[in-house]
Amino acid sequence: MRNVNKTLFILSLVGASFMSCTTELENADYQVIPAPQELVIDQNEPFIMNNKTKIIIYPADNDGMQRNAGFLAEYVKEATGKSLKTVLTDKTKNAIILQLGLSSENPEAYQLNVNKDNIIISGASEAGVFYGIQTLRKSLPITKTANVSFPAVKIQDYPRFAYRGMMLDVSRHFFTLDSIKRYIDMLALHNINRFHWHLSEDQGWRIEIKKYPELTKVGSMRSETVIGHNTDEYDGKPYGGFYTQEEAKEIVAYARDRYITVIPEIDLPGHMQAALASYPELGCTGGPYEVWKRWGISEDVLCAGNPKTIEFIEGVLDEITEIFPSEYIHIGGDECPKVRWKNCPKCQAMIKKLGLKSDKKHSAEDRLQSYVMSCAEKFLDGKGRRIIGWDEILEGDLIPEATVMSWRGTKGGIEAAKRGHDVIMAPNVYAYFDYYQTKDTENEPLAIGGFVPVDKVYSLEPVPASLTNDEKKFIVGVQANLWTEYIPTFSHVEYMVLPRMAALSEVQWTMPEKKDYQDFLNRLSRFRGLYDLNGYNYAKHVFEPQRKPRSFDDLPQ
Ligand code: ACM
Ligand code: ZN
Repeated sequence: MRNVNKTLFILSLVGASFMSCTTELENADYQVIPAPQELVIDQNEPFIMNNKTKIIIYPADNDGMQRNAGFLAEYVKEATGKSLKTVLTDKTKNAIILQLGLSSENPEAYQLNVNKDNIIISGASEAGVFYGIQTLRKSLPITKTANVSFPAVKIQDYPRFAYRGMMLDVSRHFFTLDSIKRYIDMLALHNINRFHWHLSEDQGWRIEIKKYPELTKVGSMRSETVIGHNTDEYDGKPYGGFYTQEEAKEIVAYARDRYITVIPEIDLPGHMQAALASYPELGCTGGPYEVWKRWGISEDVLCAGNPKTIEFIEGVLDEITEIFPSEYIHIGGDECPKVRWKNCPKCQAMIKKLGLKSDKKHSAEDRLQSYVMSCAEKFLDGKGRRIIGWDEILEGDLIPEATVMSWRGTKGGIEAAKRGHDVIMAPNVYAYFDYYQTKDTENEPLAIGGFVPVDKVYSLEPVPASLTNDEKKFIVGVQANLWTEYIPTFSHVEYMVLPRMAALSEVQWTMPEKKDYQDFLNRLSRFRGLYDLNGYNYAKHVFEPQRKPRSFDDLPQ
């Protein structure tokens, strides 16, 4: 009797501990970033995710859907330690079902329905399913032991803007292939679907072009770098790097799997000193030139009067279109000083030949820049591609098909929309993440200047009220930019973009009437758990407003 009692006692202990293991529950929370357009929680029984939960995909033989299932399994594993299997079965209980076929005008739309038997993510496309998976992923608790209880819910969601971008300048500082992949992972976490890759600059040429090998042999390496804000001191260290075409293609594929299009930028006709160092005959003076060691805007630009320049542009863009399948190619157009052109016999002869005239608004040299851009545009048009240019491309004559990226505030974007161009808003005062994120600049790493805290990013309304309803339709997207003069490491990149990217993502995705900064901050304090989980080096200012700032040297590099 005593033994029986003891056995029962032990069994009940085992049972209790077994039960406590299997019934420990943590709740999923749909308060994610960016906020979904419609979210209705109901009082029905929740779905419990356990080790037996399976993933089912329809259609099963679709590569994108298989990859989606792989991402979901990876995210669940990261957050909860559970290994979910994708199976072919018609038993749909205890399953996360990923399916196509949602009828919506928006190709990136999804629905996420949770009931006690299953979670169903339906997408208008594979990308829509991917965003549903992102929402599910962001709602997971971070736990290594518990099962997860998902409250019954109906989420209907779609992005406000089709173009949701982030730019990275890899020319002022170079980042490895692994870092670029990590950046793309960060974009995916924020539902961003365009990676604008700024590949050429005065200070370094970063992409292999087989027809012009000197671009990477010479142009990818500067002999040293100026210290601080263009002091007269230099660090004495050669600096450089570039991506082979194969590596760039690897990035294109990595991004594509995450529904992100890579938009390369070759910045024309200014910001070209590294190219001139490689091919001095392309400059107005013939050089010699060196890959620039200082920051700022070089006065040495491509000579617009030299037929070899147009041949060069076409040769480069030809290979760029081979590497990058994106519809858009960014051809720059910003900050091109005209001093060399004013004094160059070849450029002046070209102005005469083309009959370019000055008027009150534009000089003949402005129009010469329009001519160079139009050559690039025509060449790309012949390949079925479209151009994006910085808002300076409005200074002259511009083909209607050009998309304008408004960076000097929203003024350029407003003018472009009024002139009938598609516009991507990337106004520096809201969306330049190289600017300081706090006023306490003494305790920050050196930055270019400016002040763009998280609430400023969040407050961006990309569609100006001054536009008519028809003109408003031209605002197709929103982007933030990261210029890297003062950002030498990838850890520092992370510090500059996070969590400002979270605020950006809500500007890009969520309808303005759904936005609420206080609510965003509440959600952000949970969302940062994913930054921690991924080991991202994010800025803490919004989480610790009272904190005495510490030196940036304390941050992990
Ligand atoms: C730019 O910031 N120069 C486009
Ligand atoms: Zn010239």
